[in-house]
Order: sequence, then C-alpha cells, then structure tokens
Amino acid sequence: MRFLRTRFSFSYNLFIHSKFNEKRTKVNDGSLRQFSTTKNEPYFITTPIFYVNAEPHIGHVYTAVLADSSARFHRLIGCSPVVFSTGTDEHGLKIQQASLQANKDPSQFCDQVSVLFKNALDECEIGYTDYIRTTENRHKENVHSFWNILSDKGYIYKGKYEGWYCTADETFVTEDQTTLLKLPDGREQRVSTESNRPVEWFSEENYLFKLSKLRGELLKWLISGPVVRPVRHYNLVKSWLEQDLVDLSVSRPRARLSWGIPVPEDPSQTIYVWLDALLNYMTVAKHSHSDKNIWPPSVHVIGKDILKFHSIYWPAFLLAAGFDPPKCLLVHGHWLADDQKMSKTTGNVVSPQSCIDIATATGLRYFLLHEGVPASDGNFSMTKLVRIANSNLADGIGNLVNRCCGKNLNPSQIRLAVSPSDFEACGSPGLELLDLLQRTPDIVYEEYLQWNFYKGIDQIMALVRGANGFFQTMEPWKLKKEGKIDKLNASLAITMETARVVGTLLQPIVPSYSERLLDKLGVPRENRDWNFARLRSSTADTSLGAQGTVLFPKIKFD
Ligand code: MSP
Repeated sequence: MRFLRTRFSFSYNLFIHSKFNEKRTKVNDGSLRQFSTTKNEPYFITTPIFYVNAEPHIGHVYTAVLADSSARFHRLIGCSPVVFSTGTDEHGLKIQQASLQANKDPSQFCDQVSVLFKNALDECEIGYTDYIRTTENRHKENVHSFWNILSDKGYIYKGKYEGWYCTADETFVTEDQTTLLKLPDGREQRVSTESNRPVEWFSEENYLFKLSKLRGELLKWLISGPVVRPVRHYNLVKSWLEQDLVDLSVSRPRARLSWGIPVPEDPSQTIYVWLDALLNYMTVAKHSHSDKNIWPPSVHVIGKDILKFHSIYWPAFLLAAGFDPPKCLLVHGHWLADDQKMSKTTGNVVSPQSCIDIATATGLRYFLLHEGVPASDGNFSMTKLVRIANSNLADGIGNLVNRCCGKNLNPSQIRLAVSPSDFEACGSPGLELLDLLQRTPDIVYEEYLQWNFYKGIDQIMALVRGANGFFQTMEPWKLKKEGKIDKLNASLAITMETARVVGTLLQPIVPSYSERLLDKLGVPRENRDWNFARLRSSTADTSLGAQGTVLFPKIKFD
C-alpha cells in the first residue's frame, strides 16, 4: 500500500486546487447557463459508467450521445485536450447476483457484457478517448490510494450500520423513503418509494464516511456557480442540502459482498460500489496522458436517477480528500416506453441495435438529440424516429445536396466559389437566405453550449428549409434553359455554400452523415472546425467528391 500511495502522490498533486469557488461567478441568476470554455482549454467530459447486469438500451445510448455531441462540439471550437470517458461499472451486489444467476464467474460475466456496451457505443459513433472498466488494475490502485487519503484525513471510521438497502439501486434508504407493498399472494414487500424496487434490512459492522461534516462545504460548492443543471435539479440538490446529512456506510463485510475492491489493510470488508464507481472519473484523469491539468471534470453527464450520488456523495468524497469537485453536472430525463422508464426490470427496453438495423446509427442519434429535451422525459417511438430521419436527413438535407450536386445542373461536378455579389445577383430570395445564413451559426453555437441540441438542430433545419425554398424560387433548371449562366451559377454556389455550413454545424450531432456531406462537397478535412461553420467567401472552385449524392437512403418502415 505504501508503494501505491507514493507512486500516485505526484499525480494527485497535479489535481489539487483548494480555491475552486474563486474561479466561478457568484450565485447564478436562476437560468444556470453553462460557463463557456475557451479555445485551448481542456474539456473533460464523462458519461456514467454502465452497470453490466443488463444489456445496453437506448436510455444508456442517450447519455452517451449527449456527452459525445458535447465532446465533438468542444473539439470543433478548439478545446484541447478533449478527454471523454465512458465505460462499465462492474462491482457490487447487483453484478454478483446477476453473474450467479447467469451461472457465470463474475469476471467472465463482466467481460462479456462490458464488450456489448463497448460495441454498442462504437456502433453509435461515440468518440470516447477512454473506456474504463472498474475491474481494471489501474482503477483498483486509484480506489485504494483515494481510500487511504480519506482515512488519513480522518473521514473514515468503523461503526455499526443498520438500515434498508436497495440492491437494484445499490443504495441505502431511510425508512421514510420506503413503502410497504401488498403482493398478489398476500405477502408484504418493502420497496424503495423512488424506484419501486425491493429493499432489505442490513445490520452489520462496516466503515462509515463522515458525510455529515461536509454539508456546509457542499452548499458552498453548489452555490458557487452553475454546477447542477437544469435549474430544477439544482433546486432539488439545494433542498437535500438544507437538511442534515447522515454518515454514509462505505463498505460491506466481504462475506456478504465478495465482488468488489477490498478495503486497504482490512480485506474482511469490500468498498461500497458507488465510492468505487465514482472514482472512475479520477482514474481516467490520472491516465489521460495530458501535460495540462484536466482536473476538475468540466461536466459529468448523468441521468436524473443518479443525481444524489453525483451531487452529494461524489463532491463530498472529493472535498474531504482535498480535491476540487466537478464544475458541472448535466442532468437529463429518462426515455420512456409505454410511459414507463426503460429498464430491464420493467422489461420495456428498446435495444440500440434494433434502431440501428432500421434507421442506422445516424438516424438513432439524430432522433435522440432532436427529440430529447434534457430537462424532461421523452417517449420513444420507432415510427417517429423513422418519420423524423426520413423527413430531415433523407428529404430536407438530402434534397438540398442532390439538387446542387446532381449532374443535371452541375455537369462539371464542382463546388463553385461564392461571394457577396452572388447573393445580390439573386435578389431578395438571395438576401433573405444570406441573412439566415449569417445568423444561424451563432445561434447554434449558443444552443449547443447550453445543451439544447434539439434547438440547435431546429435552427439548422430552418436554414435547410430556407435554402430549399431559395432553390425552388430561383428555378435554376429554367435559368439553365434560358442560358442565364451567371444567375444559375450564383444560385448553385449559394445553395452549396449553405449545404457546407449545414454539414459543418451538424458534425457533433451526426458525425458520419456530416462527413459524407462534406466529403461530397469536397471540403478539405482541415477546413471543418467551428471557424468554418459560417459563410465564407471563396475565390476558387473546388471539385466535388466522386461518391453518389445519397447521404441517407430513405427508410421504409410500416
Ligand atoms: N453504474 C451506475 C452509474 C455509475 S457512474 C459513477 C448506473 N448505471 S446504469 O447503467 O444504470 O445507468 C447509466 C446511465 O444510463 C445513467 O445516467 C442512467 O440515468 C441512464 N439511463 C438508464 N436508463 C435510462 C433511461 N430509460 N433513459 C435515459 N437514461 C437512462 O446508474
């Protein structure tokens, strides 16, 4: 143990900042807007790590797609490095029981399910920079050294814990957070009121963490800036912190829970799975190989069901150990199917693969971000997914590209240089489109920054509609027949320029689709960052890519 602690003391020093509250603006105005991140600054974003007791569903993918779009956006605006982590949460009673039920050795069981998550995320074009598994040695080492810091600082003591525990949620609940249900066979079952899942009574010796001592510091962190968003979740955390906190049990006897990381110097106890899991973020930071300090995390993207762990336990552990708590928690709602949260227990899960098979990863990502409003729950519908992907990606943008890149009107297959005089040459339709084209990128920037991807997409689609309307009004096929070549070229140049801006703006949302679009338009790779996400005059024509113009084949689905 000594060895581990000496070895890691250097990297810990890299992270330690005690003045976290000096760096932020005073209490927010209620809107809790995202602090902005500037060029060349690190951006460290995470998804929660996924439990391996069940296979991935689109609720999990949503968390990951949100984080991925934000990571991609921050890369485009020049943040560096962008560290984006995801992975799997593999310890705890829940996994121990699931592997037993599957008749598998837990480590073999975890290997099998973890790879399913990795594949699903890869399929959905999630561009993580680290995929962490809590069963890795680098993580165990980090958990041990962190435990030792807490223990050295006097935050851990041995005591007796008695109370209700919900294994499905891996959480302790007080009696008034439970409800007694009458089962159909007449028996009674106590459940967690929040999740409706069974609880059991535990009475045992374990280690406790002095959470009760940290309420003041946690409140200070909370009001230091937009650390929990959207505002309703901020208010919820505030209400929790207005009451006393009780100390938290952070270990279980090994005899009851063997699948986990043992307490350093006391192998008869296993570390509580949430302490273990939350520390994944720090393990990633320590192994980020960046010469810049990336601590604290810029944002943890989380579902609303795991807010308490991230807004109370996690910052408390960090503050106790002397580290800065995260800058921001972005909390999203749930995807429902048949008006119930998608979950293995309810049996209403929609697998990402079933969506990809029908609509491709592009269709799925587009739908989740177009329909998902982080502050609310969303209802999943395959019919809606298909309708939206068809009308926006195949028809709206697809038609735009087809029209200006098709050999009919563009026999020499070039993207024509565009200049302000082209807009003037096209009269009021040209000037109206120019206005939209000039306004859209800044609005999209702000919406992406504020996690309103659905609003950003709406703006982009308004631009697409504007460009399709412009094209229709200009009737370039008539201009060609009439030999009005200058006006024909001006209409084509303007339409292609709009398509280029659309493709650049859409990169965080649908990366491979945007790539196809920009490749078709012959946009060099080095000209795709946010500086290019706006109207730019050019002097030279560019050859179009040789590929076909169909970016998204229309889906047939009844
Ligand atoms: N292992 C914990 C997280 C530990 S992070 C240190 C966990 N895992 S989970 O697999 O149950 O959930 C992972 C993420 O998926 C959470 O953010 C959760 O909110 C999200 N979702 C799970 N079901 C969901 C929906 N039906 N809809 C949207 N997201 C949901 O919690």
